Amino acid sequence: MSLLKRAEAALQSHFQTAAGVGAPPRLQAAMQHAVFSGGARIRPQLCMAVATACGDDAPELTNAAAVALELMHCASLVHDDMPAFDNADVRRGRPTVHKAFSEPLALLAGDGLIVMAYQVLLQSGRQHPERLITLMENLSRGVGLPSGIVAGQAWECETAADLAQYQRSKTGALFVSATCAGAIASGRACEPWAPLGAFLGEAYQVADDIRDVLGDIASLGKPVGQDTLNDRPSSAQAMGLEGAIAHFDALIKQAGDAIPDCTHRDMLVQLVLLESERLVPKSMSEGYRKPSAAVVPAKAPATRSAAAR
Ligand code: IPE
Ligand code: IPE
Ligand code: MG
Ligand code: MG
Repeated sequence: MSLLKRAEAALQSHFQTAAGVGAPPRLQAAMQHAVFSGGARIRPQLCMAVATACGDDAPELTNAAAVALELMHCASLVHDDMPAFDNADVRRGRPTVHKAFSEPLALLAGDGLIVMAYQVLLQSGRQHPERLITLMENLSRGVGLPSGIVAGQAWECETAADLAQYQRSKTGALFVSATCAGAIASGRACEPWAPLGAFLGEAYQVADDIRDVLGDIASLGKPVGQDTLNDRPSSAQAMGLEGAIAHFDALIKQAGDAIPDCTHRDMLVQLVLLESERLVPKSMSEGYRKPSAAVVPAKAPATRSAAAR
């Protein structure tokens, strides 16, 4: 089964169980709209890929960790699109939750998804209480203070923000949680896996800023030109398109090089390269990349890392 199929199946089954019976139907529909709308599911796939590389000896716990990450991500998108934040009408090619269901329901749907993420972890972690506690800490770090999504979004409310700190918090932190969750769910140390998440997550937000300028609503499924419209710190604005694309390429190279030596290293390198081409395809970056710019990660280090043991 592909990682994407595994992620979708786990989301479907955990969502139904956690929602239970008798919830207010419009709230449940709003939460369903937020989650089952064709996202790329990169965070759960990353978690599952790292778990595979770490032996994946508790696959149900891996699935729950992956689902919790995606539910948090979806909650952040619901709130991010609301009029108080980016005021966006379209997400994943469909009306945003507040447009389809109302602002009160969007606020509650986001809240409900955040709580559901912890519910899913709790329901699946009873056989591995130590891993469960570490997974809950790891998820909280990616979402809360001092440098998770909530902190990242809050930099928009300050008079000045450091661009890299803003991007690492609002997007990079949950990618770190994703790679670390795969290791933790498999009973391994998470430290060797954090740099992969950090570099890929930062690259992801840099790419999002580039696509906000060079992309279009039909292919992205969300409005473009939002960063200028909302006066958001953006790589494209701070570095120019050429500089932002060079920065993206450098971060992708660092992400590939950060993959620890392990039996599934080639699979992880492939995942990083596929994401790179999906995010900033050659057709989009033509004319902005120097011809010699290579995005190929270096070979595995000669010594075996802690992750491979
Ligand atoms: C969008 O994330 C918001 C950012 C953090 C850049 P994704 O690009 O992963 O969105 P979906 O889940 O595929 O819709
Ligand atoms: C990421 O930033 C948003 C979250 C962390 C929720 P953006 O505001 O740039 O994401 P998009 O462009 O709306 O997907
Ligand atoms: Mg936004
Ligand atoms: Mg954006």
